[in-house]
Amino acid sequence: MNLEQFKTDIDNGLNKESKTLPSKYFYDKKGDSLFVEIMNLPEYYLTRSEFEIFNLKSSELIKKLGLKTTTYFELIELGAGDGSKTIELLKPLVSKGFDFKYTPIDISANTLSVLENNIHAQLPTFKVDKLAGDYFNQLGRLKNTPHPKVILFLGSNIGNLTDEKSSLFLNEIARNLNSRDKLVLGLDLRKSKSIVLPAYNDSSGVTKAFNLNLLNRINTTLDANFNLNEFSHTAEYEEQEGVARSFILSKIKQEVRVNALGKAYQFDKGEKIHTEISRKYDDKILEDILTPTCFKIIGKLTDKKEFFADYILEKR
Ligand code: AVJ
Repeated sequence: MNLEQFKTDIDNGLNKESKTLPSKYFYDKKGDSLFVEIMNLPEYYLTRSEFEIFNLKSSELIKKLGLKTTTYFELIELGAGDGSKTIELLKPLVSKGFDFKYTPIDISANTLSVLENNIHAQLPTFKVDKLAGDYFNQLGRLKNTPHPKVILFLGSNIGNLTDEKSSLFLNEIARNLNSRDKLVLGLDLRKSKSIVLPAYNDSSGVTKAFNLNLLNRINTTLDANFNLNEFSHTAEYEEQEGVARSFILSKIKQEVRVNALGKAYQFDKGEKIHTEISRKYDDKILEDILTPTCFKIIGKLTDKKEFFADYILEKR
């Protein structure tokens, strides 16, 4: 993490009329482990739904990607995590004799060794070419190879970005690809509020801890005195709009000092700090995001309940 950037981002967010804090700062060591807990929550259907797609439909995915056993290709995963979904794709690729290299990219070197161990347990002879670091720096390094590429960007991770930023991000990926290369984009689908909301406000309070951990991070990194007992968590979702929003809520009127910034910030009783958007998609929303990009949709796989989709995109 860049400390100066962190200071500017926190100060800017807390000075706004409607306060915000960026979700990209959730993922410190504690945040990473809380997110693993979230993925195992009964309410957090996203991970299980996408696992089902990879588990039951990997042959269909391979077919839709147009892969041939005779052509060497590169499989590159952005934000790979523990790789449990991807292993479901690797198993048939390996057993059917495809010739490929798998490069998981993740910001956390620690997560990458967990992934490597998981893969080793299921595919003992398969070699993983892991890359620790920021997606873009690493993607840029891969761009000059002439081989066909398949990029995996799963978990609805793009959903933390606005639609405009998603288009920019996808174009940034496309810049590093050749025409006909593929992107598998995992997206959480629009669905009823009664299913989406609990995923962002679970009964055991793990999501609350995940959200409030951002205040902890500010406390330790910027010598601040947020009292976590005086803040709580809330989530909102409107079915028509299809965007889940998470907030930290100030339970009382209070002042918090951030010593590294030499400032104090005032919070009213009930004031909300917006921390995250989690976009929910349908074909139309994705098509609009893709309009200013070089990608087109060539396939779509969903789980049985149609909670989640892995879209197969091709660079024009
Ligand atoms: C990792 C961005 C997909 O938005 O569903 C989970 C993060 N936030 N619970 C999501 C998250 C609260 C998650 N993504």
